[in-house]
Amino acid sequence: MKQNKKLIELVNLQKINDDCLMCVAETGKQIPFTIKRVYYMVNSAPNLPRGYHTHKKLEQVFFCIRGSMKMVLDDGYHREETILNDPSVGVLLHPMVWHEMHDINEDTIMLIMASDRYIEADYIREYSKFKKLVDESKK
Ligand code: TYD
Repeated sequence: MKQNKKLIELVNLQKINDDCLMCVAETGKQIPFTIKRVYYMVNSAPNLPRGYHTHKKLEQVFFCIRGSMKMVLDDGYHREETILNDPSVGVLLHPMVWHEMHDINEDTIMLIMASDRYIEADYIREYSKFKKLVDESKK
């Protein structure tokens, strides 16, 4: 059987100890796309999962810069998960990979770097629609 490429690809930021932990992300170094948008989530409602969508073209790197959360990735055929709890380590999310974030609590701070501005038309929010597109692309 053909070996599937690992779904979870980690990004390790440059770490500088300067009376703090400084983490540096640069386009073309740790981040494999031009960063056009950064967004973050604070004061999350506890135990409310997020995500549950995929993007047609957008690339993103997800960080948990405080606390922890579980990140689940799904390519339509298999799922992989990892715990994010280190501010210097992110998960690279390619287009057409379904993602979910679980076990978020109110202290969790997520920070996301994205390859494009917010475009609602780039979202696929129904798993069945995502799965259909993945299956069609394999034909
Ligand atoms: P969404 O991407 O669905 O969040 P999550 O994946 O964390 O569950 O976004 C939640 C809402 O915020 C949705 O109505 C779209 C809006 N939003 C913007 O307006 N701009 C943005 O850059 C982002 C990421 C979301």
